[in-house]
Amino acid sequence: MCGIVAYVGSSNAIPILLDGLNRLEYRGYDSAGIAVARAGGIDVRKAVGRIANLAAEIQKSPVSGTVGISHTRWATHGAVTRENAHPHTDKSGRLHLVHNGVIENYQTLREQLQERGHEFHSQTDTEVLAHLVGEAFDKGGARDSAALVEAVRAALRQVIGTYGISVVHADVPGMLVGARRGSPLVLGIGKHEHFLASDVSAIVSHTREVVYLNDYEIVALQADGFEISTLSGSGADFHVSTVEFDAGSVEKGKYPHYMLKEIHEQPNTVRDAMRGRLSAEEATAILGGLNMTNADLRAVDRIVLAGCGTAFHAALAGEYILESLAHIPVECEFASEFRYRNIPFQRDTLVFVISQSGETADTLAALRESRRKGHRTLGICNNVASTIARESDGGVYMHAGPEIGVAATKSFTSQLTIFVLLGLLLGRIRHLSHSDGLNIISELEKLPDLVARTIELETQVAAIAKKYAKANNFLFMGRQAHYPIALEGALKLKEISYISSSGYPSAELKHGVIALITEDTPSLFIAPQDAVFEKNISNIEEVKARRGPVIAIGTEGDTALAKICDDVILIPEAPHYLTPILATIPLQLLAYHIANELGCDVDKPRNLAKSVTVE
Ligand code: M6R
Repeated sequence: MCGIVAYVGSSNAIPILLDGLNRLEYRGYDSAGIAVARAGGIDVRKAVGRIANLAAEIQKSPVSGTVGISHTRWATHGAVTRENAHPHTDKSGRLHLVHNGVIENYQTLREQLQERGHEFHSQTDTEVLAHLVGEAFDKGGARDSAALVEAVRAALRQVIGTYGISVVHADVPGMLVGARRGSPLVLGIGKHEHFLASDVSAIVSHTREVVYLNDYEIVALQADGFEISTLSGSGADFHVSTVEFDAGSVEKGKYPHYMLKEIHEQPNTVRDAMRGRLSAEEATAILGGLNMTNADLRAVDRIVLAGCGTAFHAALAGEYILESLAHIPVECEFASEFRYRNIPFQRDTLVFVISQSGETADTLAALRESRRKGHRTLGICNNVASTIARESDGGVYMHAGPEIGVAATKSFTSQLTIFVLLGLLLGRIRHLSHSDGLNIISELEKLPDLVARTIELETQVAAIAKKYAKANNFLFMGRQAHYPIALEGALKLKEISYISSSGYPSAELKHGVIALITEDTPSLFIAPQDAVFEKNISNIEEVKARRGPVIAIGTEGDTALAKICDDVILIPEAPHYLTPILATIPLQLLAYHIANELGCDVDKPRNLAKSVTVE
């Protein structure tokens, strides 16, 4: 969603800020702005639409300076207009502020400020924050860095909601202030320069030494130092971390889009999800990050999985994988529903929240609600510095590297791989024998090669994509663990190509979906050689009987599908708990190539944000 990049140092801030904003483009936004300090004042430039428009605006009317804040806005309060774009200013016009998050009591605060003579020029909740900080600063009298920090503190004490902010004031040159609650903010430490960003990928080309701020922390930064304190006014302990990845990991490299790059990374990312986690000696998986002994794990009699979007689909597939490997009842919940439900849980329920970004607001709220109820709550996250990773009782990292494409790809297959590891671990504590465990390990070890072989189907999938790219409606069907894969295939297609698409368990066809079948509505069936293969064939026949075109994903060596389907994609043979991973890949490629065929902006689909940090 919204993005923040800020700089204080001795270099020209403009290229640093624009480069940082460009690196945050993937998160989704609809306008952008910048505020740069110069002697005696601050210059502001804003533009609706792409960052290129902001850059053009700056070129038309140049600004320069060594201290600045910048922002990409994803509209929540107020339309996509120049006036609503950040930075926003206060009554004096000398303070400028950018903000991620939502100020829930902004209406009340705005009315109170209006009664005190403040005028507003946007519909945003953010403008209220700028006025509050400015008012507190002007009341204080002193015009120094301590006074600005104190003003930020005073303002934030009045606020209900979430924020990651950065503030610059013309009267306090050479200084920025940042603060966070519920919206990520990271401080980058350079040589005689410092950075603030909502996402480390915006600044990793400048420094890998960072401090991830905690909620209720305020940072004051200057070229030669920084100070972190809390909202209550005390000093804060902090830890300097080194970013795991380098700037190259957030580049597209030889690929035209991040999404394609990330699809092609999957042989490595599934390998990284397993790295160091398989023990042939004990014939099990080692997941030390769970922070649970085997006795603790043995006591678990129910598992709840919660996530949003693709992570929720991973949970649904995880339900099948865990139930079949570990024989533990599993339930899946949309994180957004979980937070407001009052589910009667058994005592020994283990909750997992699943999130690539680790910052999804609903998933974070589900985690907090579950922990509040006293359940051990673990995270399956990619972003190791994320709020979910830090607040959970333990968990499993995906180690998939940064995922930039808005459409989740490699994170999904990493999540499924982790569910197999969990199934192996929990199964071995229960009914799986040593040789069962060794078998699963040996199958897992083959997985990266099978994924690589599946990606080689790209040319065939691209040709199929071309054939069906003009369809207005697409159906995806599968049974058992392939039903969630059908949902994921439909989500990928609709997200990036805007074609209406939906996923169903194949058997639901007769219960209503069949009404949609026409000669122009392609149905994609995931029908590998498994226990329900014949059932899928019957469903395919039902579609064909109504002249519906059928694309099938089957198992290498299959000859039955080609006889009745229009197009067949054959994936390598694998055990039932790994087939969902392989079956996902042609669906990702299909969505990618259809979107590309239609000329859609694959990495930055309309209206979408990579990380949904508001409810
Ligand atoms: O970062 P998270 O895994 O928590 O994100 C959850 C969803 O917002 C995300 O999967 C979304 O559905 C993607 N755009 C799917 O491609």
